[in-house]
Amino acid sequence: MKIVITGGSGMVGRNIREHHRAHDYEILSPSRKELDLLDEDAVKAFFHRTRPDLVIHAAGTVGGIQANIAAPVRFLTDNLRMGLNVIMGARSAEVRNLLNIGSSCMYPCNAENPLREETILSGELEPTNEGYAIAKLACARLCSYIHSEDSGFLYKTIIPCNLYGRHDKFDPEKSHMIPAVIRKIADAVESGSEIVSIWGDGKTRREFMYAGDLADFVFFATDRFSELPQYLNVGIGRDYTINEYYSEIAEVLGFTGSFSHDLSKPSGMSQKLVDINRLDKFGWHVKTQLRDGISLTYNFYKGEAGK
Ligand SMILES: NC(=O)c1ccc[n+]([C@@H]2O[C@H](COP(=O)([O-])OP(=O)(O)OC[C@H]3O[C@@H](n4cnc5c(N)ncnc54)[C@H](OP(=O)(O)O)[C@@H]3O)[C@@H](O)[C@H]2O)c1
Repeated sequence: MKIVITGGSGMVGRNIREHHRAHDYEILSPSRKELDLLDEDAVKAFFHRTRPDLVIHAAGTVGGIQANIAAPVRFLTDNLRMGLNVIMGARSAEVRNLLNIGSSCMYPCNAENPLREETILSGELEPTNEGYAIAKLACARLCSYIHSEDSGFLYKTIIPCNLYGRHDKFDPEKSHMIPAVIRKIADAVESGSEIVSIWGDGKTRREFMYAGDLADFVFFATDRFSELPQYLNVGIGRDYTINEYYSEIAEVLGFTGSFSHDLSKPSGMSQKLVDINRLDKFGWHVKTQLRDGISLTYNFYKGEAGK
């Protein structure tokens, strides 16, 4: 079976490519230099030439709140154009199976937690990443329209919760919460600093899954692709407060100092937890506990920092 993975150099793509099940397949994962996904003709020609059995669309213009606020035009247009080129290019080459990677920002900002798949498009989006979310929603709907016009095309969307893990970004300008905290606490341990500052009151709740587990899910889903629901949340089923993440990371890294709270900084939405009832029925369960995932991510960071 031949699989094309877009975004193979990103965190999600690299974790999929490194998973032990990847060896069971012929995997093609062109770099941006080899295939710019914003180039419609090149993407179409690539799918006509390679004719994969499955496309996993894991490429995107991805960034934190600040980047999304600063450049909503780019977040909307890049992700929409990439999605259209990949999805329509695959359809034109008669590729029968496509796994589109969505994001929990597709949920309305006032949707009740845990976030159920049925509530997609039932309300206003979070304004800080609306452009990105609109692109994600358009691609998810396009996949479902393609399937409803011709049931021979299985084009489906998964909605992962926040991810962390190997190949995460640890640069403070670009990083998500867990790698940012790992770096902050590692720096405090190294410099002998006694206090680490937490943005906001630390009571905000967030759900994070180890990216290696998402890769595990992807291969589980590949084995039973026709049973995969059109939209499926992929999460761990529980969330932790920001303070709890800091404590766990401090224990793994051996930080014995204390935390202060910078209340002048924003905390974001109070909770973002995806509902995993459908995922449970599909039969997949999370593998990596938070403590283990943090250790694996920290080991990766130490290896990268030592390079
Ligand atoms: N990270 C998370 O917490 C998370 C959670 C839920 C969902 N997701 C979704 O998962 C997907 C991947 O996220 P990620 O964290 O892996 O992002 P990432 O690390 O930033 O990777 C993005 C990938 O897309 C590629 N790319 C961007 N523009 C391209 C273009 N014009 N042509 C070809 N390739 C291009 C990048 O290539 P270069 O290396 O050349 O830049 C990179 O391989 C996104 O759709 C995201 O919404 C991520």
